[in-house]
Amino acid sequence: MLVLGIETSCDETGLALYSGRHGLLAHALHSQVEMHREYGGVVPELASRDHIRRVLPLLERILRQADVSPAAIDAVAFTQGPGLAGALLVGASIANGLGFAWERPVIGIHHLEGHLLSPLLASAPPSFPFVALLVSGGHTQLMEVSEVGVYRTLGETLDDAAGEAFDKTAKLLGLDYPGGPAVSKLAESGASGVVALPRPMLHSKDLNFSFSGLKTAVSTHIRRAGRLLSAREKADLARGFVEAVVEVLVSKSVQALAQTGLKRLVVAGGVGANRQLRAQLAQAAQTHAFEVFYPDVEFCTDNGAMIALAGALRLQRWPEQASRTYAFTVRPRWDLSAL
Ligand code: KG4
Ligand code: ZN
Repeated sequence: MLVLGIETSCDETGLALYSGRHGLLAHALHSQVEMHREYGGVVPELASRDHIRRVLPLLERILRQADVSPAAIDAVAFTQGPGLAGALLVGASIANGLGFAWERPVIGIHHLEGHLLSPLLASAPPSFPFVALLVSGGHTQLMEVSEVGVYRTLGETLDDAAGEAFDKTAKLLGLDYPGGPAVSKLAESGASGVVALPRPMLHSKDLNFSFSGLKTAVSTHIRRAGRLLSAREKADLARGFVEAVVEVLVSKSVQALAQTGLKRLVVAGGVGANRQLRAQLAQAAQTHAFEVFYPDVEFCTDNGAMIALAGALRLQRWPEQASRTYAFTVRPRWDLSAL
């Protein structure tokens, strides 16, 4: 089965072709980061309009790359939510338009399901069951993944997501959007232990997270200085921030593995690209004897490949989920455990 995947939930337009037999045939991505940069964050209306401009040229590109004609495509998968309503509507309407024109079924995919299945695109994929740590700009969750489509939420953030905390801290430090990569790069030149920030909910005895207090602690630290921080002070503060986030994420992941008795951890979402997080998880994996799996770096952040993959896996397992009504809805807010 050959599935076209379309991702337009936020500021990346991603298209891909995934074959049940041959794996990923082609994928293409357009990032809107440059367009949103001057506003310091994603402007939803601009995002929607740009997705409209990008989807069809990217489709033509992946068809050429894979050297297939639209007639070879068996189904169209699109991100149905969660995400920005207008941006999601672009993907949903184009996916359904193509499905109708090509007389092929369509399937709506949960964006986070795409992220948590994305390590299956790697050359050494994990087998089921596993614990997934989802750390993106909008979500921080620990899930127990029994098999495709069977997910249980173990814990989640009560306020800001980890990526959001990175982005807000970046703004406080005067760094460019998107903040995550900039903060983690700056932290690498900072000294460990100079700035001690709180570890929110580290000892809460559950698997939930809270990161808004940490961002406030960064802001208080800057205000207390009463002057502009030097480059070195900023680096030390970034280091303190990253160490606090990473310690909480690693500790809760280890607890989730102990609680479920599982020995495999999958890390997905943009923050999964963070080098300090990867280093600390590698150490914890040795100490606690578990394995860690990541998507390839290009599939850590939003992309079409994970949506095409999720569509193919779902249609293989539940062919009845293929829809031919072409009457679509989007779900800007959508709980993954409701699947
Ligand atoms: O999964 P993603 O691409 O989009 C969402 O679905 O949200 O994640 C984007 C988030 C942003 O908050 C970004 O700052 C963060 O991931 N991020 C990072 C890194 N790369 C991206 N955070 C920390 N370290 C990184 N290297
Ligand atoms: Zn995402």
